[in-house]
Formats: sequence, structure tokens, C-alpha cells
Amino acid sequence: MNSTALITGASSGLGAEFAEQLAAQGYDVVLVARSGDRLAALAERLIAEHGVRAHVLVQDLAEPDAARRIADRLTTRGLSVDLLVNNAGFGTCGRFEEISGARDHDQLMVNVVALVDLTHELLPGMLERGRGAVVNVASNAAFQPAPYFAVYGAAKAFVLNFGLALRQEYRRRGIRVLTLCPGPVETAFFDTIGTRRAAVTGSMTTPEPVVRAALRALERDRGYAAPGLGNALTAHLTPRRPRTLVAAVAERVTRKVLAAPSKSSEHAA
Ligand SMILES: NC(=O)c1ccc[n+]([C@@H]2O[C@H](COP(=O)([O-])OP(=O)(O)OC[C@H]3O[C@@H](n4cnc5c(N)ncnc54)[C@H](OP(=O)(O)O)[C@@H]3O)[C@@H](O)[C@H]2O)c1
Repeated sequence: MNSTALITGASSGLGAEFAEQLAAQGYDVVLVARSGDRLAALAERLIAEHGVRAHVLVQDLAEPDAARRIADRLTTRGLSVDLLVNNAGFGTCGRFEEISGARDHDQLMVNVVALVDLTHELLPGMLERGRGAVVNVASNAAFQPAPYFAVYGAAKAFVLNFGLALRQEYRRRGIRVLTLCPGPVETAFFDTIGTRRAAVTGSMTTPEPVVRAALRALERDRGYAAPGLGNALTAHLTPRRPRTLVAAVAERVTRKVLAAPSKSSEHAA
């Protein structure tokens, strides 16, 4: 019997790529997001191309009982999850007082609360079976305060510290926990956040190598993966600098990037 991976945010970007690469490795997949049509199209393709089983669970992860509802539907379908990929997420960008409080609330529900709740729902089954893995998608914003992305950066710092802590708790009990900390990746993330300037550094990669690096790191039981040389250096060096200095430099750099005149190649969604 194939192992089963549940991937949140599988309708697009990194989540769709996780589904693709895991199905290619022979995992049955459970695809979770709000966009049912996109999930159904992906499921159909993965079944046809890889001969795996692919299930679609349409769920808004900002709803308070989202994880419970997912767990109930897994039970109804007789599915147990061996690999949980907590990938769904989005960001907000700009001056804190100009960002909708409701939008930030939903961001925390999706990026943090649903991730913790789903781990609560699915980890006990992994422990019972004596094996399993969790991949949490954070960001390179997790390594420092992120002015103008204050809630996003703080949420991702939570995800990183949560993942590193769980890894230590469960590493001798058969469970691997990896936190993925990508730099900018060419996905719909930037359409949702409203500007490609949210990449700040400007340099982008694609989902394929990022997910490949994550799955390799999971296989090697690494604590976190920060794919790409520049990104790895940020991950290594930033936490070694004084935190208030890092925040001040980040504020200055980000303010300039966000305020710079538009080039024709840039667009705000
Ligand atoms: N792209 C980057 O540069 C970058 C860098 C570092 C970290 N990340 C992280 O990578 C993860 C994936 O993002 P991405 O870059 O692949 O962006 P993306 O293409 O916009 O994908 C985001 C996914 O999250 C899902 N999602 C958003 N809100 C949801 C909700 N309320 N309920 C259920 N699902 C929801 C979306 O599905 P629906 O809209 O169909 O619900 C979509 O599948 C995120 O956690 C993001 O923070 C991205």
C-alpha cells in the first residue's frame, strides 16, 4: 500500500509542486485548498500520470474548525496520513495601520492556527503507527523581524520555532519534522500579496528546485531547509546579528524597495 501525503494549499505554487513530486515518488495524495476546480484538475492529472490515488478536500483553512473538519473527512474516507505538508499560506504587506485587521486575522488562522490544529489532528496517528513526517512551510522571513510584513514575518518565525521544537520532541519516536524556509519563489503568492516588490531582493526561483530540496532535506532528517546560496546565508547569518539592528536595516531596505518608482516589468495585482 502506498503512503499518503496530505498537502494544504495544493491548488497552486509550492503546494501543487509538492503534490506533483510526492505523487511521482508513489505517494497517494490528499489535496486541500479552497479552489475545488483546480484541485480536481490536479488530482485527475496525478492519477493519470503516476497511477496514485488522489483525494480532494475543499476547505477554507481560515475557518476555526478547519482542521477538525478535514480530520473528520479523512476518517469517513478511511484515510490515514503519513506525511503532512502544512504549506497553505499568504502574506500581507504595507504599513501595519493600512492593512485590514480582518485580513491579518485570516492570515494567522491559515498560516499558524490551521497548521498547529492539523498537526494536533494528524500527529497522534503517526505516533500510533510509529512513523510519519511533517513538513511546515515557513519562509526566509522567519529569521528576522520583517517591517512592512510584520504579521507575515512573525507568523513564519512561529512556524520555524514550532517546527524545530517538535522535531526535537519526536525525533526519537519515528517522526520527522522539517521546516522549509524558501526565499522568493515565482508563484501566485505575489499576486495575492499585491506586489512583486514583496520579493524585496528581486531574485526569484521556481517551485521545482525548492520542493526538491525540501524533500531531500526531509529524507536526510534536517531541521530546516533554506534552498539557494543567498537564502542559506541569510538563514545562517541573520540570527547572529543584533536583533534591533537587523530590524532597523530591514525597515530601511524594505521601505525603499516598496517606495521605488514602478518599472514597466513590475505590476501590482
Ligand atoms: N512564493 C514565495 O516567494 C514564498 C516564499 C517563502 C514562503 N512561501 C510560503 O509558501 C507557501 C505556499 O505559497 P505559494 O508561494 O505557493 O503561494 P500560492 O501559489 O499563492 O499558494 C498558496 C496556497 O495556499 C492556499 N490558501 C490560501 N489561503 C487559503 C485558505 N484560506 N484556505 C485554504 N487554502 C488557502 C491557496 O489555495 P486556495 O486559494 O485555492 O485556497 C494556495 O493553494 C505559503 O505558506 C507561503 O507563505 C512562499
